[in-house]
Amino acid sequence: MLNLVLFGPPGAGKGTQSQNLIEKYGLIHLSTGDLLRGEISNGTALGLEAKKLMDEGILVPDAVVIGMISNKLDANKDAKGFIFDGFPRTVAQAAALDNLLTSKNQQISGMIALEVNDDELLKRLLLRGKDSGRPDDANPEVISKRIKEYNDKTAPVAEFYKKQDKFNSINGIGTVDEIFTAICAIVDAY
Ligand code: AP5
Ligand code: MG
Repeated sequence: MLNLVLFGPPGAGKGTQSQNLIEKYGLIHLSTGDLLRGEISNGTALGLEAKKLMDEGILVPDAVVIGMISNKLDANKDAKGFIFDGFPRTVAQAAALDNLLTSKNQQISGMIALEVNDDELLKRLLLRGKDSGRPDDANPEVISKRIKEYNDKTAPVAEFYKKQDKFNSINGIGTVDEIFTAICAIVDAY
């Protein structure tokens, strides 16, 4: 199996590049942000709880997203592999993911981190916020909060994978195609 963690701050292009990757490599895309927005649009209790935090740019509790990922792994037993997008976002989530995969005799192949500076992130997300309907793209304060959450809680996840010798970093600024080519060079080596 090929199991990739696509990593980076809000607006780095994880979702955009995941779409290209699933087409080329036949992997299953697991975005906890998309799964949570699905819960919100279905009006579930979990969605209602998550929405309050997401609209403020704050991470939802680890147990919530770990449970969602566990369900998805069980539901896709025959997959060729997974792209984890926006997960793991805390060191506790990364450790939980390792445990889930180990219990299935699987592991993460590698992490690919998209490096994008804060000014570019803000620009991209405000632009998308004009018509995305995502409340967390709507104002600069919430976007800044998301970036702060990333720096405080998510950035340490890179260290977790560096220790396992699975960390790869690429420049996330450029055209979508240029960045995809750089990602493929890493994926092909796996
Ligand atoms: P989530 O949905 O994961 O959002 P995010 O990571 O904050 O950011 P995005 O998904 O907006 O960015 P992206 O990197 O996917 O970029 P994209 O390709 O869309 O999470 C939302 C919330 O859910 C969190 O704040 C949290 O509350 C909760 N949550 C989710 N997962 C969680 C977890 N594991 N634990 C706890 N809480 C969790 O691109 C962004 C924009 O840029 C697009 O408009 C795109 O068209 C554009 N773009 C892409 N590439 C380029 C390029 N090369 N040049 C110019 N523009 C580009
Ligand atoms: Mg995304």
